[in-house]
Amino acid sequence: DTTVIRSSFIHFLQDPAQADNINNTYQYLEDGLLVIENGHIKTLTAFDAQTAQQYPSVIDKRGKLIIPGFIDTHTHYAQTQMIAAYGEQLLTWLNTYTFPTEAQFNDIEHARKISQFFIHQLLKNGTTSALVFGTVHPQSVDALFETALEKNMRLIAGKVMMNRNAPTELLDTPESSYHDSKKLIEQWHNKGRLQYAITPRFAPTSTPAQLQLAGQLKAQYPDVYIHTHLSENKDEIAWVKSLFPEREGYFDVYDHYGLTGKKSIFAHAIHLTDKEWDSFQQTDSVIAFCPTSNLFLGSGLFDLTTADSKRVRVGLGTDVGAGTSFSPLQTLNEAYKVMQLQGKKLSPFKGLYMATLGGATSLSIDDKVGNFIPGKEADFVVLDLAATDLQKLRFSYSSGIEDKLFALIMLGDDRNIYETYVAGKSVYQRDTSSPN
Ligand code: GUN
Ligand code: FE
Repeated sequence: DTTVIRSSFIHFLQDPAQADNINNTYQYLEDGLLVIENGHIKTLTAFDAQTAQQYPSVIDKRGKLIIPGFIDTHTHYAQTQMIAAYGEQLLTWLNTYTFPTEAQFNDIEHARKISQFFIHQLLKNGTTSALVFGTVHPQSVDALFETALEKNMRLIAGKVMMNRNAPTELLDTPESSYHDSKKLIEQWHNKGRLQYAITPRFAPTSTPAQLQLAGQLKAQYPDVYIHTHLSENKDEIAWVKSLFPEREGYFDVYDHYGLTGKKSIFAHAIHLTDKEWDSFQQTDSVIAFCPTSNLFLGSGLFDLTTADSKRVRVGLGTDVGAGTSFSPLQTLNEAYKVMQLQGKKLSPFKGLYMATLGGATSLSIDDKVGNFIPGKEADFVVLDLAATDLQKLRFSYSSGIEDKLFALIMLGDDRNIYETYVAGKSVYQRDTSSPN
């Protein structure tokens, strides 16, 4: 089973922030040939007629740019229907909008319907892998995994653990959350390309007893992920202090219960102390940077510069429904502005690295996806750089690849996603007859 595609390609080989010369961090082929065999990358080379002739058919996608599939390192599928909820910051937003919405996922039919909508939105935006929050209901995760399995997607998800400070119908208990999560791990972890994340919502909605059992579960299944929120909002941080006075700080709450480490992903991490940055580095824990959410909820500006200087891995997260877009391009657009507000630059190379190989590294799946190294799974996106009349005009005056990628990030969205491939199969094609 071989597929051969001729097009332009760009992919990343290392983190631009850690490189002496940015030009060594990516490979750009203006006219390249990608060979896919049994859903995996066989080769990516410059086009030459002789090589192409070895194959009975070559799919011609010249004029497009192919990049690795986007990786969303933090999002909530059950919040899809409440995206763009007006007026509140984190804690009021949760009580006013989020909890009533998540309560509906007690109904598996509702969960299935939203799962299908959500997975379609990912593919339509070029996202081929994601780390996803379910709700407290185990069936919410069954529904999402069933849908992702049909598409053969590399998806990581988990049932929310939360046993206090939320409406009664959304609470589990330490014991039920342990047993339900364990059952889901046994059923889903490593089924196809699916993996499981133990998912305590955040410290305020778990008692010490629940966090302790979450840590026990992680010790029993060291290969699964930990996925939660950390230091997003100042009122939240003060609340954690009052709920866990015996702990040194917010990060220490998770660390104390064995929930930090190289497969632990913390969304936000905006307001960290110097000591907490050191702890991130020492434990090799990971941050999901969610710019649209951080601006929308007025949470604050993430300090990517310090993360890079400490070599803390950072992935890009849409954080829908606090995040306002499914598009990694739109998310990078706002990441750029978050850096501008701090007097810093975010190069398009660093941005696209974060959305692809950097995301894979953050999720410890960089041996499987993230770029076009031979042997990796063939998850990729065919981009149309000039999908709108404004983009066509802008690109007719564009000089090089760096400028093109930057303008793509600023002006781009789902209209630029021409086609999405998962494990070598085309799973989404844009209907180009629809208006721009
Ligand atoms: N902290 C705890 N729960 C949530 C959530 O659902 N969204 C965001 N943005 N932060 C959280
Ligand atoms: Fe979130």
